[in-house]
Amino acid sequence: MGISRSRPKRLSRRDFLKVGGTGLAGAALLGAAGCGGGEQSGGATELYFTAPEDTTGTTSKLISQFNEMNKGKYKVIFQKGNSDTGQRLDKLRTQFQAGGENIDIILGDIIWTAELAESGWISDLSNRFPQSQQQAYLPGSVEAIIYNGKPYGMPWYTDTGLLYYRKDLLQNSGYKGPPKTWDELKQMTTKVIADSDTRFGFLFQGARYEGGVCDGCEFIWSHGGNVLDPSDPTKVVIDSPQAIAGLETERSMITDRIAPEAVTVYKEDESAGVFLNGDGVFLRNWPYVYALVGDPAESKLKPEQVGVSELPSADGKPGNGTVGDQPLYISTSSKYPDAAWKFIEFLSAPEQQRFRALEGSFLPTRSDLYDDREIQDSVPVVALAKEALQHTRPRPVSPYYSDMSLEMAEQFNASLSGDTPPEEAARTLKAALENIIEQGKEASS
Ligand code: GLC
Repeated sequence: MGISRSRPKRLSRRDFLKVGGTGLAGAALLGAAGCGGGEQSGGATELYFTAPEDTTGTTSKLISQFNEMNKGKYKVIFQKGNSDTGQRLDKLRTQFQAGGENIDIILGDIIWTAELAESGWISDLSNRFPQSQQQAYLPGSVEAIIYNGKPYGMPWYTDTGLLYYRKDLLQNSGYKGPPKTWDELKQMTTKVIADSDTRFGFLFQGARYEGGVCDGCEFIWSHGGNVLDPSDPTKVVIDSPQAIAGLETERSMITDRIAPEAVTVYKEDESAGVFLNGDGVFLRNWPYVYALVGDPAESKLKPEQVGVSELPSADGKPGNGTVGDQPLYISTSSKYPDAAWKFIEFLSAPEQQRFRALEGSFLPTRSDLYDDREIQDSVPVVALAKEALQHTRPRPVSPYYSDMSLEMAEQFNASLSGDTPPEEAARTLKAALENIIEQGKEASS
């Protein structure tokens, strides 16, 4: 789906974005008055916090703690958003187009900042989060909240794709450590399955959604390919031999019987669920899964059975995980931005980030927490991530990212499922992305 479809000519760039993306509402809605966020009830200011469900339980604990500390003053109300980041953004767009009622604080995604800021839906935080404070955070996480030189969010936790592996099974089959190349991963999978009767080999996210985009990009990057040319992001290079080789390797995971066909519909939770049930040898997922390994309610595995490493690559250099960052934004429709900021300050403070790392294996965005002894000792995934974050890659940064993502999700999934040969998928995708970039240029001129 190209953005040209729904773009009425007379709309400004900002208005176009507001009705664009998935084209959920008409321009008539643009005039709707901002209805604001929470209410004053029983003396306490009610603040609506929209975020996906957090299976580690750490978010709800922090909300209760904040509410307890601020009894009679502020009350944060959790509003569960879809765990699929694309569907969550679709809903937010609809809500904003209708005036943004009951949205104060948003747990966002790195890929949303440009679109939400450009649409005027999230607040410029220059006065609340000045450069002097930004220095305490990971540079990549600060980049994730900057749009047109201004900060539009507060970094909360960062994310990257990692490889989880069954340490015990690999050892039983005579392997000393995790695979460095995709070929090694295949060889190990075949042997471990033969030796141990494990049902499945490599589990990852191949469904037609944002997570499928992340995994597809990782296969491309770890073969030396790219989506856009890093030195000229208006140039699409998704049809390079390296990028096509990445998509071919992804597809070969199914044809070589390394991954079950079901990976074509797996998102994070499905793939993690199979692995945590003891039915997989390898899993590509984000750091939060590490906390679930140690939770008997979520996992049949014990922490000592699971190792975690950087992703493999074609040539044995560390693979490239996708940068995921989850910032906190304040909605421009909020009636209580000062109160919303109090909550954001609380969540992002060192103690709370530390708690989330220890209890939920979420990667902190405050740089000094990577030197925290207790975190280093008890959450190995954080120590590993310090190294892995050196090799991560961002998805394209653009106010039109949603449109690009829909195209990538469609073609990566078609290639993985065997519906379209990888080379043809890459060529189709190149044309679609070029069209979006072209339309974006016209809209901003
Ligand atoms: C994780 C990442 C996010 C990404 C999403 C894809 O939540 O942090 O950046 O878009 O997964 O499913």
